[in-house]
Amino acid sequence: PPRVVRVPVVVHVVWHDEAQNISDDQVHSQITVLNADFRKRNADLTKVPQVWQSVVGDARVEFALATTDPNGAPTSGITRTRTGTTAFDTDDAVKSAATGGVDAWPAGTYLNIWACQLGGGVLGYAQFPGGPAATDGVVVLHSSFGTTGTAAAPFNGGRTTTHEVGHWLNLRHIWGDDGEGCGGDDFVADTPNQGGPNYGKPTWPTMSCQNGPDGDMFMNFMDYTDDDAMCCFTVGQAARMAACLAGPRASLAA
Ligand code: ARG
Ligand code: ZN
Ligand code: CA
Repeated sequence: PPRVVRVPVVVHVVWHDEAQNISDDQVHSQITVLNADFRKRNADLTKVPQVWQSVVGDARVEFALATTDPNGAPTSGITRTRTGTTAFDTDDAVKSAATGGVDAWPAGTYLNIWACQLGGGVLGYAQFPGGPAATDGVVVLHSSFGTTGTAAAPFNGGRTTTHEVGHWLNLRHIWGDDGEGCGGDDFVADTPNQGGPNYGKPTWPTMSCQNGPDGDMFMNFMDYTDDDAMCCFTVGQAARMAACLAGPRASLAA
């Protein structure tokens, strides 16, 4: 297997109302979830049906809040910025001081995570590898971030960030991003072909695209189920993330 990669993380807390200025504890709770989920150490892996236990993957990625800032000064790995913006959109405004947010730290050295208020019911969004450095990273709704503080059910398991970091490491949605069709591909061989996204807490098996008897792998982090219904990456997804960390994101694995 590839060696374990440890990614330095900066969490940019951008707040308008006091409650959005989430605690250090809430940030730390998210890092804890990432380190369990990307090392196949999460306690809820027992939710994977027996037929898929052998394809559950250890992504071999670990995350640590940065201890040195871009100027070489000691840091907690958390920045805090007050904004006049009541809710951000998916237009990347939160990623720039000029538009009410805070600039990214160098994307070749840090995983940038912005935690803020988002409008329109969006839980989070990510930039795939290969995009502009200034907007690289993931954005997560503060109330879907971590497992304590403002984190609210059913998205208080830290899995929105797990899902977004999956995209950041080049994972596609498990249904192939073709709406409800059966022709889409997530470019991973060990995930079943699946029609569209699943929501909530489905009952296994849930079939689509003639993928019976086992059906959709709706407990995969790259589906849209509730935080307490998703629990795994596959071996194939782990390989795709390793390829990203050996390729376009190699500087983070230095
Ligand atoms: N809608 C978001 C995306 O496509 C994230 C969904 C996260 N789901 C969850 N159960 N936390 O990137
Ligand atoms: Zn997604
Ligand atoms: Ca599909």
